[in-house]
Amino acid sequence: MGPLSAPPCTLHITWKELLLTVLLFIFWNPPTTAQVTIEAQPTKVSEGKDILLLVQNLPQNLTGYVWFKGQITNYHQFIIAYAIDSKNITVGPAYSGRETVYSNASLLIQNVTQKDTGSYTIEIIKQGDETKGVTGHFTLYVDIPKPYISSSNLNPKGGAETVILSCDPDTQDVSYLWWINGQSLPISRKLQLSENNRTLSLFGVTKDTAGPYECEMKNPVSSSRSDPVTLNLLYGPDVPLVLPATTYYDSGTTLYLSCFADSNPPAEYSWTVNGKFLQSGSELSIPQITTEHSGIYRCAARNSATGRERYRFRRIKVLGKWIPASLSTVF
Ligand SMILES: *[C@@H]1O[C@H](CO)[C@@H](O)[C@H](O)[C@H]1NC(C)=O
Ligand SMILES: *[C@@H]1O[C@H](CO)[C@@H](O)[C@H](O)[C@H]1NC(C)=O
Ligand SMILES: *[C@@H]1O[C@H](CO)[C@@H](O)[C@H](O)[C@H]1NC(C)=O
Ligand SMILES: *[C@@H]1O[C@H](CO)[C@@H](O)[C@H](O)[C@H]1NC(C)=O
Ligand SMILES: *[C@@H]1O[C@H](CO)[C@@H](O)[C@H](O)[C@H]1NC(C)=O
Repeated sequence: MGPLSAPPCTLHITWKELLLTVLLFIFWNPPTTAQVTIEAQPTKVSEGKDILLLVQNLPQNLTGYVWFKGQITNYHQFIIAYAIDSKNITVGPAYSGRETVYSNASLLIQNVTQKDTGSYTIEIIKQGDETKGVTGHFTLYVDIPKPYISSSNLNPKGGAETVILSCDPDTQDVSYLWWINGQSLPISRKLQLSENNRTLSLFGVTKDTAGPYECEMKNPVSSSRSDPVTLNLLYGPDVPLVLPATTYYDSGTTLYLSCFADSNPPAEYSWTVNGKFLQSGSELSIPQITTEHSGIYRCAARNSATGRERYRFRRIKVLGKWIPASLSTVF
């Protein structure tokens, strides 16, 4: 970018004076009759592409143009200036090396990045009457890349751990939205959004706040949603429930017991009788029971992710064959 590299120290004195005048404009109200308009070409831009900010309705008999990043025309925001008579180009602190100003005042920004998002102001200096600047504003939005969620911990244990989710990458001039299970966030003291809504803190994850999360980044020209990231709440097991609650069984029938304990991931079950291992699995079924099957049955539910195990005991009494009283007297 040849002519843009002219160092500011080579400025002609009148140009310096002009710049000084321009910088003093901060303290004056912008003229209400500004008709200068700025239009982007193309109207939408994605990262890495070029964009031209076209200036229309330029007044006549001009001295030069100054471009600023933002809406405030102070020195720190000064990108680039063009002096019409000398065709001299001066760059300022906000110049990134990717901007080119043309003689018709248009500004080309090459290889656009998210950092280029925001407003731009052009100040047009009229000949002879340097105190009257004309400004035009334009807000540049860059197409939003697909965001992704980063998490401090995707597998919190119990309800005590704090989980921080953030919507990345950190992008300027976008608003953030969060979704849980496809719904907007519930109002809860256990959920807290950062000031710009980019990070979400969960103080203790419960069953209601576990699930898939998505975040969305939005600006006036585009929006993009992340892939879902699932927050798994590891909990349990609780003390298992053993059904049915019957104690007495007739011999010759089937002993059927089922065991369940709420747990995530689901519990692994095992059965013992009188301390001896019987089988694994949540259901126990023994056909043709005899009095030998009486005893203390125990169902154990274990979650290897939480390292927790809980049991339930059930006393089972198998009754001998019923013999009619009239017959028993015979024997
Ligand atoms: C334009 O800039 C050149 C150096 O880049 C300098 O020599 C020359 O004096 C300047 N002319 C005006 C009119 O500012
Ligand atoms: C100004 O100059 C640029 C670069 O030569 C050109 O693309 C653009 O069409 C011109 N016109 C306006 C109105 O900016
Ligand atoms: C521009 O300047 C010329 C001569 O300097 C003058 O005749 C003309 O009226 C001016 N035009 C405007 C719109 O100020
Ligand atoms: C565009 O900018 C990125 C970093 O912002 C850089 O890596 C890349 O090389 C640049 N591409 C061009 C064509 O200048
Ligand atoms: C953050 O999100 C809330 C709704 O969840 C919204 O009312 C608020 O305006 C957002 N704040 C910002 C800075 O986007």
